[in-house]
Amino acid sequence: MAQFLSTCFLLLISAQLVKSSGVFELKVHSFTTISSSVCKQSRDCQVFFRVCLNYTQDVISYRLACSNGTGLTGTLNTEQNSISTSAPITVPFNLKWLGTVAVIIEAWNAEPSNDHPTENLNNMIGHFATKINLTIGQKWSQDVHLGEQSELRFSYRVVCDKFYYGDDCSDFCRSRDDPFGHFTCNDTGSRICLPEWKGEYCAEPICLSGCSEEHGFCEAPGQCKCFTGWQGSRCDECVPYPGCLHGTCKLPWQCSCKKGWGGLLCNKESNV
Ligand SMILES: *[C@@H]1O[C@H](CO)[C@@H](O)[C@H](O)[C@H]1NC(C)=O
Ligand SMILES: *[C@@H]1O[C@H](CO)[C@@H](O)[C@H](O)[C@H]1NC(C)=O
Ligand SMILES: *[C@@H]1O[C@H](CO)[C@@H](O)[C@H](O)[C@H]1NC(C)=O
Ligand SMILES: *[C@@H]1O[C@H](CO)[C@@H](O)[C@H](O)[C@H]1NC(C)=O
Repeated sequence: MAQFLSTCFLLLISAQLVKSSGVFELKVHSFTTISSSVCKQSRDCQVFFRVCLNYTQDVISYRLACSNGTGLTGTLNTEQNSISTSAPITVPFNLKWLGTVAVIIEAWNAEPSNDHPTENLNNMIGHFATKINLTIGQKWSQDVHLGEQSELRFSYRVVCDKFYYGDDCSDFCRSRDDPFGHFTCNDTGSRICLPEWKGEYCAEPICLSGCSEEHGFCEAPGQCKCFTGWQGSRCDECVPYPGCLHGTCKLPWQCSCKKGWGGLLCNKESNV
């Protein structure tokens, strides 16, 4: 059973180790453009942003494709051709955070009548690509990009999801109190054992205080169970040979006769 449990346990742990998870967040503070194609009639002008990350190592090109991990805003109504987002645009990732990524930000004109505006490149009214080197943290970094016809002011950050920690969001820690572990997590994702538990995963109970480490063990905190041949509340007394009457032991199953006694079971008076 213990073997089975620990196997499950290792599988569980390793399954969690390979995963990693976080979210890249970007806020658009202002997007302005003089492009005439943006808003033919400024009243029903609607714009949305698409943001994605590209882990390519190459020098970034203008044509980087936004094929994976995109975040979208809802459509935003413009005010005097300047647009900002209230909630951050989020791009979740479940690879290790590599630090250096290309960020692609696209602004799209959403015609009210058009269900699939990104299918027509003519609807793209702004495209920005920038390579960033960003460490995990709560702090927002500011940036400005000037294009020929547009200007984009934005800020961004990358944070780990709940239960994920570390430089690349790959350290998993989720407090638990079950046969697989008894711990909470501190702010940097280290396991902190609950009282009475120990071990790397806090799955080993702490035995009764004083319980012999060599001859005793426990299956639950505060217990002291003895290995064969040992007894006593702390498992520090040997069990003498069965039937040993007037004898003692230093190791299990011995029968060393007290003075005046002899025989295998020390049950015969000795006249020495
Ligand atoms: C990253 O950019 C490359 C080069 O433009 C492109 O081929 C690839 O599809 C992009 N990957 C993603 C995830 O968008
Ligand atoms: C990323 O994009 C590529 C190219 O479009 C696609 O083949 C792949 O399945 C995507 N991966 C994920 C995780 O979405
Ligand atoms: C990214 O920044 C870190 C620390 O600020 C630095 O050590 C690292 O060399 C940078 N990486 C690149 C590719 O610029
Ligand atoms: C979390 O625990 C680890 C290991 O005990 C320690 O090194 C680290 O400083 C702790 N972090 C915080 C924020 O207390």
